[in-house]
Amino acid sequence: MENKTILITGGAGFIGSHTVRLFVNNFPGCKIINIDKLTYAGNLENLADIEGKDNYYFIRGDITDSDLLDKLFERFNFDGIIHLAAESHVDRSISGPDEFVKTNIIGTVSLLNSALKFWKNNFESKLFYHISTDEVFGTLGKDGYFTEKTPYNPRSPYSASKASSDHLVRAYHYTYGLPVVISNCSNNYGPNQFPEKLIPLAINNIRNNKPVPVYGRGENVRDWLYVMDHAAAISLLYQKGSPGETYNVGGGNEWKNIDLIKLLCRIMDKKLDREEGESEKLITFVKDRAGHDMRYAIDFSKIKNRLGWEPSVDFSQGLEMTVDWYLENESWLKRVCSGEYQEYYNQQYGKKD
Ligand code: NAD
Ligand code: TYD
Repeated sequence: MENKTILITGGAGFIGSHTVRLFVNNFPGCKIINIDKLTYAGNLENLADIEGKDNYYFIRGDITDSDLLDKLFERFNFDGIIHLAAESHVDRSISGPDEFVKTNIIGTVSLLNSALKFWKNNFESKLFYHISTDEVFGTLGKDGYFTEKTPYNPRSPYSASKASSDHLVRAYHYTYGLPVVISNCSNNYGPNQFPEKLIPLAINNIRNNKPVPVYGRGENVRDWLYVMDHAAAISLLYQKGSPGETYNVGGGNEWKNIDLIKLLCRIMDKKLDREEGESEKLITFVKDRAGHDMRYAIDFSKIKNRLGWEPSVDFSQGLEMTVDWYLENESWLKRVCSGEYQEYYNQQYGKKD
């Protein structure tokens, strides 16, 4: 890919930072502009290694700010948008849904409006690529998989706000002809994930000998994908996805939460030179999440058969790489866990341990 100017939103977050790095390094002939509001979840440290690159620009800004978006379109004349900026944590959406409506719905509409305004005379070789989640499909029982045809049935404020944004993106395609691609991905894990999500939260607590909170009985099932495999799928879909189409992306890697946490405890025992079984003692069953979806599982045969993508990282290896990263980046963890996060943690899980 050459001579493209691409706006990536939410590039200082978890998946965004891996995506920005991949594009900046793999496409030196393209300009990559990262717009991020730097909420608690956004951290420029995630991108320190590419900060000085000639083809990379960072703009601190809010995607609900239409004037700013219009100015950026005028200045950079974008060929494409890869939209990742979002409020992304289900538990926060339960305690405070408004921010999810603002960023995930209004923010997406603001981006769609600017793209339409600046591209409407020539949609040729333009693309609005919207990154979404499998949570829009709701929950599965013991059997079955989400396909691209599964009806939407979101059940948390987070997934409802993402579903709403997906519908709007598709509506701009059908109504105005905006060239769009959407992908719905399963749970990601890997370096740089904010420690409010299950895997980094558990790693952090195990290391610090704090209780590891498992919701309900730990029977809920998630399908886990290494974040760099997701970034690779995003790069492929940006280049080869068909406008108007949706693609499911997943790991083919289902785990009950309790089994996953036990595996993580075994890895941590080894890494921390603890006796086998020591970390497992930290597992603490806590009150279940309200409306907790039971199972997510993805059928990713469309992207596999049409574009040749499939997950490349084996789960136990990926988990070990993730643990190593968190153990080697203690200062990153300390910094992101200070201040606002500590307040959230106390509110979500009770008093400080
Ligand atoms: P994240 O919470 O780590 O990062 C979100 C980023 O968006 C942060 O850098 C934050 O500062 C930025 N942001 C938030 N509000 C903004 C605003 N109003 N304007 C500009 N920037 C703003 O999230 P993530 O886990 O990296 O997820 C990225 C995207 O991928 C989201 O759209 C999410 O719905 C989707 N997704 C995530 C997963 C997952 O497992 N994490 C799975 C599938 C899809
Ligand atoms: P999470 O990482 O929040 O992702 P999502 O809710 O988007 O799937 O949670 C993954 C699973 O782990 C989910 O079933 C909820 C559960 N969970 C816990 O059991 N304890 C925790 O402290 C957290 C954050 C999540």
